[in-house]
Amino acid sequence: MPRETWATRAGFILAAVGSAVGLGNIWRFPFITGQEGGGAFLVTYLLFVALIGFPAILVEFVIGRYTNLNPVGAIRELGSGAWNYLGWLFVVTGFVILSYYSVVAGWFLRYTLIGVTDGYALAGPEEAGALFGTVSTGLDSLLFHAVFMALVIGIIAAGVRKGIEIGVKVMVPAIIALLLGLAAYAFTLDASTAAYSYYLSPDFGYLAANWASILPAAAGQAFFTLSLGMGVMITYASYLGEDRNLAADAGVIVTLDTLIAVIVGFVVFPFLFAAGIEPGSGGASAIFVSLTSAFAGIPGGRILGVVFFAMVGIAALSSAISILEVLVSYLIDELGVARVPASVALGVAVFLLGVPVTIDLIFLDLYDKLADGVLLVLGSLLLALFVGWVIPEIAREELERGIGALGGLGDAWIWIVRIPIVIVVLISLYLGIVDYVDFLTGDLAEWLAAR
Ligand code: PHE
Repeated sequence: MPRETWATRAGFILAAVGSAVGLGNIWRFPFITGQEGGGAFLVTYLLFVALIGFPAILVEFVIGRYTNLNPVGAIRELGSGAWNYLGWLFVVTGFVILSYYSVVAGWFLRYTLIGVTDGYALAGPEEAGALFGTVSTGLDSLLFHAVFMALVIGIIAAGVRKGIEIGVKVMVPAIIALLLGLAAYAFTLDASTAAYSYYLSPDFGYLAANWASILPAAAGQAFFTLSLGMGVMITYASYLGEDRNLAADAGVIVTLDTLIAVIVGFVVFPFLFAAGIEPGSGGASAIFVSLTSAFAGIPGGRILGVVFFAMVGIAALSSAISILEVLVSYLIDELGVARVPASVALGVAVFLLGVPVTIDLIFLDLYDKLADGVLLVLGSLLLALFVGWVIPEIAREELERGIGALGGLGDAWIWIVRIPIVIVVLISLYLGIVDYVDFLTGDLAEWLAAR
């Protein structure tokens, strides 16, 4: 059977945007912005997306389109020796990320349903916290994790055109429409003025004093939100049949992803300010607890809540499919397994890996800090080294295919990949490892001792 390709240019772009826009934009971005000082973080993040994220997404695109292969096969075709293992890193990362991503996405489905059946009329933060406890652990969490994975498997089993492409053509416009509706509503809240000024006026003094934590957080967020470091963009670009302008497509994808994250801030911060909640307080549970309290306290909160949580659920789905597709494309290309059994087998394996997260939230940290802080960053580092130093000529020619001779711009791209990206990612990797070791010897050791 010939390898599948996208039916349309819009299909590829929407699939990549669907992958990029996910929990990272809606769940992670607002609380990291809150933790790292609001406007000061926003400016840094925007700078990183433009200077580092855009060149880095092109790295994955050229590998995918040049080889028309899954990430493991692609790296094997281009590299030799120890480089062959890089593709395997992506597979491991994909398993880990999708396993907990699905559990968290399941919580959003559950919260959507709670809004439909009961509303969010809770007595206060304690009750909101208790609700989060029920949703996030035990049978509820397991059940919705299963439902979410079933949706992911269903779409991926249907194929590139009939599953992913049709799916994202519905999901991405839906996300944008729901988000714009929410932003318009948030604008009418009295609290919005204070919220916008918190969000939009960067405090450069704060930035100067806290750069050591703001810079790596912004770099990490830029890579995570663009789905970089585990071969998603390699896989999606591998389904490109024709020679298109990859830089133009990357520009559209990066811009849309960034705009959506920025607009999420215009929604979440007014809601939090309206309910008198400090942005950035708490961790993983923060957005659930604070937003349910916020929805309980503003007019029309129940509908807003349903729309908001459903939007996040859809965004998570359009990202999750891209992760499973990396794994499935490997089984199809390399082992000749048919798409449907490959999707089911891998989807079930990912489900099982996620089960511990539904039992105790310590596993969420165990997986997330490893995948997000170490594996994705390591993947990005190795990809940049590989393209910048091992195959720069091939990469450059591939980028020019569909654009024309790039001259100095092509050199600039290769040098950005060779040095600044490598430096930024090395620093983030170091901090990610330190943080993970801290976690293993601190929180996890305590948790184990208490067993
Ligand atoms: N970009 C996705 C988000 O922002 C997360 C993701 C990371 C998806 C890595 C695929 C690969 O939620």
